[in-house]
Formats: sequence, structure tokens, C-alpha cells
Amino acid sequence: MTGPRRQQATGNRQQATVPPVAAIMDRHNPSESAAVTLEAVAYGKLNLTLDVLGKRADGYHDLEMVMISVSLADRLSIRLGTGLPWTVTCDRGSIPQGEGNLCWKAARRYCDAAGLDPKGLSIQIQKNIPAQGGMAGGSSDAAAVLRALNGHYKLLPEQKLMELALEVGSDVPYCLFGGAALARGRGELLTRLRPLPEGLWFVLARPDFSVSTPELFREIDALRHCEPVTDVTGVAIRSPAQVRPDTAAMESAILRGDLEAMGKALANAFEPLVAARYPVVKELKSIMLTQGALGACLTGTGSVVFGLYNSKFKAAASALTLKDLCAEVHIATSVPRP
Ligand code: C5P
Repeated sequence: MTGPRRQQATGNRQQATVPPVAAIMDRHNPSESAAVTLEAVAYGKLNLTLDVLGKRADGYHDLEMVMISVSLADRLSIRLGTGLPWTVTCDRGSIPQGEGNLCWKAARRYCDAAGLDPKGLSIQIQKNIPAQGGMAGGSSDAAAVLRALNGHYKLLPEQKLMELALEVGSDVPYCLFGGAALARGRGELLTRLRPLPEGLWFVLARPDFSVSTPELFREIDALRHCEPVTDVTGVAIRSPAQVRPDTAAMESAILRGDLEAMGKALANAFEPLVAARYPVVKELKSIMLTQGALGACLTGTGSVVFGLYNSKFKAAASALTLKDLCAEVHIATSVPRP
């Protein structure tokens, strides 16, 4: 956990790394003469590895994950000083609007912690990251709000922003941090990894199912204690094999820029549990592998399955075939920290 290639994020008091955020003064509507619009980009994340180390006294689980940011991103338009009640809207109907959206929670926490009143706030989300996909779409949007607000008001140190992020959700600190990173604890103990090598492409396929994250954590606890694994209705699930990722092997592959070794080291402790219920996971992986992927894996608790390719051509060809099986298929590259 030490060494020059890593930089511990927690406790890092550097000013927030500035994201692609633009502030535009609104001069069109005289009643909103003081309004400002911030444009922000929220990148999706993939888990190259995800290991559940054990349950903690606070009910959460200690995790160990290698995470990366990918180019598939949501776009946010954050309007301050509207003089109207707060709103959060999204161009995709299935996403919670208003107070139920993590962006609202993030903005509320920021304003309370900074002791400010933006005199009206509205957030519009253009959704591109698959929802309920294990790509931290909602968390990334929330992180983009924290980053944009602090980029504009410059009122809080980075460490405080990280604390607020964790209050919003376990994945939000990583989304603030971005890029290739090792995440531990609930996901907030972040260590920077070497940026990923060039020439790496991902196919992201979202099959049509969603799983409950707390339920999967319960199932993994049962599996570890050799109890029968049941679904919410109490029906026994055939006990799936356990997967424990080799995090060190993945870190070493990234350090060496070895795409083949990265492909081999892709692993997710939740994958056998999800695949036992939804065989499409294995089917998607097998198609990706026969079509030239160096490795394929579930991200987070799913449902997105991704393949890693060393050529854009192979990735695009594979994505085309997968469109017959999944309504939502994308190709993406990795992106460095915002
Ligand atoms: O923090 P967040 O609200 O995203 O977590 C959702 C749920 O996932 C938690 O209520 C908890 O059941 C589970 N979780 C966990 N350990 C973590 C992260 C999440 O048990 N490190």
C-alpha cells in the first residue's frame, strides 16, 4: 500500500482538481439577471476488480476495488440564482427527480456545509450512463455537482468535499477522485494508480435486469458463513462458487501497462451470485471473449457486463453483435482523472 506511484487521497488538502465545468452568466432573462449556469461532465466508472473483505460493525462492508473512469458520461447543467424552488430533472424517466435524486442531496449538503443560499437552484441531467448498471451513474452525477459548486464558490477544502461525498453515498468519493484508483474501506480510502495504457477499449452491455445492492451484500455474507443463499422471497439459490479477485495482480498489470494481464485479472466477487440468477451474464461474457475481448466481467453489482479490448475495431464489431441481446450497448475508452 505504499510507494511513490501511489498518493493517499484521504487527507489530501489540494484544491479540487478542476473538472470540465463552465460557468455562463445568464443575460437573457432580466428576472434572472443574477443567474449563473454551470456545465459539468460526470464520467461512468468500471470495477476492474471488486472484492468484499468482510462486514463491519456499522453494517457496511470493507471493500477492495480497482476502479477506473470511462468516457461514457452524463452532462449536467446546474443553474444557480433562479429565484425559484429547487428542481432536479433528468431526460430519462426512470431516474428519480427532485429530492429523490443524489444530485439534490449533494447540493443540499454542499450548501449547508458552506453556509450558503444559492437563491434557487435547478439541475438538469442528460443521462448517458446506463441506470442501475453498476457504473455509479447517480454517484458520478452527485460528485459532479459537488465539484461544480466548489469550483464556483470555492468555499470548502478538498477533504471536506470528500467527507460530504461519503455522506451522499459510498461510491461518491471515488467519483470525485476519478481516474485509475484503488478504493478501500467503504470505498472512500482512495489511492491513485498509474493511468491506464493507451489503446484500450471497453464494450459495455446492459442486460435488462436490476439487482438490489443490499440484498447482494446479504447473500455474500451468507455464502461466507456457509449458510444457504436465498433470494428475498426465501427461495434457495444454488450456492454459487466464490470469486476472490487478485487485486495485487491487477495493480501490477496496470503498472506494467500489460493489457493481457489486465484482462485475465478482471474479477468481481458479486459476479457468481448475479450470474446464478441471470445466466445472460455468462452468455454476454462468452460472446465478448470469443470476439476478441482480453477479459470480461460484471461491474459493481451489475447489470452492466463489460469486455476489455485492445482495438477499437474489435470493440465496435463486438458491440454490434451484442445489440441483438441487449437494448443498451456502448463502447468507451478509459479517461484520466477529471
Ligand atoms: O453507501 P450507499 O448508499 O451507496 O450503499 C448502499 C448499500 O450498499 C448500503 O446500504 C449497504 O447495504 C451496502 N454497502 C455496504 N458496504 C459498502 C457499500 C455499500 O454494505 N462498502
